[in-house]
Amino acid sequence: MKVLVIGTGAREHALCRSLSLDPAVTALHCAPGNAGIAEVAELHKVDALDGKAVSELATELGADLVVVGPEAPLVAGVADAVRAAGIPVFGPSGEAARLEGSKAFAKDVMAAAGVPTARSYVCTTPEEVAEALDAFGAPYVVKDDGLAAGKGVVVTDDVEAAAAHAAACERVVIEEFLDGPEVSLFAVTDGETVVPLQPAQDFKRALDGDEGPNTGGMGAYSPLPWADPKLVEEVLETVLQPTVDEMRRRGTPFSGLLYAGLAITSRGVRVIEFNARFGDPETQVVLARLQTPLAGLLMASASGNLAHLEPLRWSDDAAVTVVVASHNYPGTPRTGDPITGLDEVAAEDAPHAYVLHAGTRRDGDAVVSAGGRVLSVTATGDDLGQARERAYRAVGRIRLDGSQHRTDIAEKVAGAR
Ligand code: AMP
Ligand code: GLY
Repeated sequence: MKVLVIGTGAREHALCRSLSLDPAVTALHCAPGNAGIAEVAELHKVDALDGKAVSELATELGADLVVVGPEAPLVAGVADAVRAAGIPVFGPSGEAARLEGSKAFAKDVMAAAGVPTARSYVCTTPEEVAEALDAFGAPYVVKDDGLAAGKGVVVTDDVEAAAAHAAACERVVIEEFLDGPEVSLFAVTDGETVVPLQPAQDFKRALDGDEGPNTGGMGAYSPLPWADPKLVEEVLETVLQPTVDEMRRRGTPFSGLLYAGLAITSRGVRVIEFNARFGDPETQVVLARLQTPLAGLLMASASGNLAHLEPLRWSDDAAVTVVVASHNYPGTPRTGDPITGLDEVAAEDAPHAYVLHAGTRRDGDAVVSAGGRVLSVTATGDDLGQARERAYRAVGRIRLDGSQHRTDIAEKVAGAR
């Protein structure tokens, strides 16, 4: 099977790494990719948001399967263009990707499907905003309606900061605050059958102790030793399957990866958000534990054959990933700084620890930073403590001027299994 992956982040590196280990994959291409992906896939230049360009590249390469990683091309309809060219694609149509592309649309689908989520108002004027903030009280949760790379949500006790964020967005969703730990649960679907993966936890705030601004994600771990063993089954029944059924009922079936961001509140599981693609950095830890060959799973989604797939196989290992970010992330990051120590990790820590590249590019012989999140250092172990130790040992070998990372990823669960 010839596979083309679209995207450039650590998630795409994780996808490409797993695909490169699948014996069914005979050729692996990625566009545009990064310096790390170049080691496992052939890179091509393409504007990932241009459906015509992506489908032409896929046709030229004779791709049997195209995997669209990030949300922006999905929302822009890139999967539709590839499908129209007759090539199976892993990823939802532009219409279906609105589950992520519009928070208001997602709320509407959840209401119709009876999926438990925070109560909310959609607001477009300062008066509506003031009323909604008043109705819910602190802490205030204000979400930009559109795509914002994980940075469009403000959670604050300060009513003026909440109103200011709302004023900076065209349309906002204001909702009740959900307490309790968060879980990211991914499911692969073909629009009908839903196959949940193993849950993971992400660390969204920039700084240790969950301080600082929201980011795209600073680290993750899986499995979740504290989670109810019936959680996945419950979320499948109350969230994932009803949502997929509702999307099909609307004539816009959702196929690809449905990502449920969940809060485990004192009153039960609630959906915080849906995403229409693999999460980053959770994918790095989920795929580290998936033993079923990835290409067959993604192809079963793309070709509507998930009902015939054998149950997924998982390793008993635990996995932890730590994101190394540029100076000033999640603000405008500093880029172009050389990264060293990557060879040391490969020599000393492989195969249990490895570096997945996010924003990197090659500059002559050097690898330099090229984005906010630069690397996602991933490790497996017999338990979370061992995986965490290995991940941080590898992080310690990497040098990137001005870089930052959290030191408390999976710290609280390190003693558990
Ligand atoms: P989202 O992009 O919707 O996942 O929001 C980003 C982050 O903001 C989430 O991971 C939560 O940490 C936080 N958040 C979003 N919605 C809520 C809510 N209703 N209550 C509490 N925290 C929230
Ligand atoms: N890790 C959060 C996201 O991928 O949106």
